[in-house]
Amino acid sequence: MRACLKMKRYLPFAAVCFFSTPALCLAAEPVRSMQPPGWDAGLKLQTALDTNADPRVVEINLEARLASVEIVPGHPTEAWTYDGGLPGPLIRARVGDRLVVHFVNHLPQPTTVHWHGVRVPIQMDGVPEISQPEVKPGESFTYDFVVPDAGLFWYHPHVMSAAQVGFGLYGALLVEDPSEQIGVADELVLVLSDIEISPRGNLEPADSGGVAGMVFGREGNHVLVNGRERPVLKARAGATQRWRIVNTAKSRYFSIDAGDSTTYTLIGGDGGLQEYPTRTDLIVLGPGERADVIVTPHAKPGSDVVVRSLLFDRGYGSTEYRDVPDLFTMTMAAEPAVEAPPLPAIHRTIEPLTRAGATDVPIRLTLTQRNRTSEFGIDGRAYPNAPHVAAAPGETQLWTVVNQTKWAHPLHLHGFFFQVLDEKGEPIRPLAWKDTVHVPAERTVRLLVRFDDREGEWMYHCHILDHADGGLMSTVLLGGVKPSAHTHSRR
Ligand code: C2O
Ligand code: CU
Repeated sequence: MRACLKMKRYLPFAAVCFFSTPALCLAAEPVRSMQPPGWDAGLKLQTALDTNADPRVVEINLEARLASVEIVPGHPTEAWTYDGGLPGPLIRARVGDRLVVHFVNHLPQPTTVHWHGVRVPIQMDGVPEISQPEVKPGESFTYDFVVPDAGLFWYHPHVMSAAQVGFGLYGALLVEDPSEQIGVADELVLVLSDIEISPRGNLEPADSGGVAGMVFGREGNHVLVNGRERPVLKARAGATQRWRIVNTAKSRYFSIDAGDSTTYTLIGGDGGLQEYPTRTDLIVLGPGERADVIVTPHAKPGSDVVVRSLLFDRGYGSTEYRDVPDLFTMTMAAEPAVEAPPLPAIHRTIEPLTRAGATDVPIRLTLTQRNRTSEFGIDGRAYPNAPHVAAAPGETQLWTVVNQTKWAHPLHLHGFFFQVLDEKGEPIRPLAWKDTVHVPAERTVRLLVRFDDREGEWMYHCHILDHADGGLMSTVLLGGVKPSAHTHSRR
């Protein structure tokens, strides 16, 4: 069973069972592909190679370096990459595995790797001068931790984040739980991003547009799906697919629309499966957020379905005079529609957090004019002077996040999941674990978080990385730790 699952990481799904007892494999993978052959070839991600023979240890090498990628045809872009690809390799593990990453930095700048959404020990959180020293050019660092939760996570630097992520440094980490039976064999990991490059393929400077660019949050002019612009996916009408989507863009929201003929069933998000599935027409993801969705296209065989990202109002200037970008095309096979077998009951028991005994923590997101410039911050103060949140191990806190600015902020907390509350103050149903939440412009969002005993200094910040770099960032001091002496703000 273990060998079989281990093998799954390297082999196409159809080949998995030849190497082990079919009966055992059937339990792990009872459903068959219903898509045309080579259906996902246009969207394939490179996968990190596990060099460790132990089935419960995933050990990989990861190198940050400049590499040439082709986005504008005929005009290569010198992107910032993990292992030479954009996005970085897909890392696959099973829940409870130990992940060992031998990281080496061959960039012209210091960097780190942050494991977004993973409940790591503080020493593995990838924040320079807080959880580790920055990894200078030519240096290495070994990340070594257990992945305690199933779900789609991602990794990215935490040094000059807007620049480094914007130049191409991001990748997905998929942690699977073999006991989760979703009933869909055809699965895609979709890494959505964008990049700002000139018509000749050169990276535009990360500070283009000056303060106004920072205040708005810079969006790239090329929208990428798994590093490609408008790739093609082959699909079969009626056959279900599972899309595991992460928004790794530094500022852009995605509002994914696949037309009226496609149905979406949302089954999970940031922290794995949600309590029960819900039907939805649009999948909206702010930077940092993830979605797990079962998609069934019903378009006519032989037709094309364009999957687009509709304009999303994240504040002033975000919908006026803007184009609706195409994400990819689903080309429907010219064969008659099939009928997918009914989905199994998908249910996860999630304990609702309770307000009883929770500490009130008010957090105001602000934009302040100072010396004829603007800075984002918390309570009027920009990182590293923004107020910290003190927390004790085991404490539950009720955060009231009041957005006083004219732009939305996807607020991200490191190291912990939270539950978002409805207007009545109860956790939103279906219950779900989140690590990044959309806080609309001039609105208030409340959430409950319970801290455990992983004492240390944990960041919370806007995941529009220009906003984070522009001051909308601070830390939770868990267990009486002192704030690090911040002499620079390169996070
Ligand atoms: Cu993906 Cu500090 O964040
Ligand atoms: Cu923001």
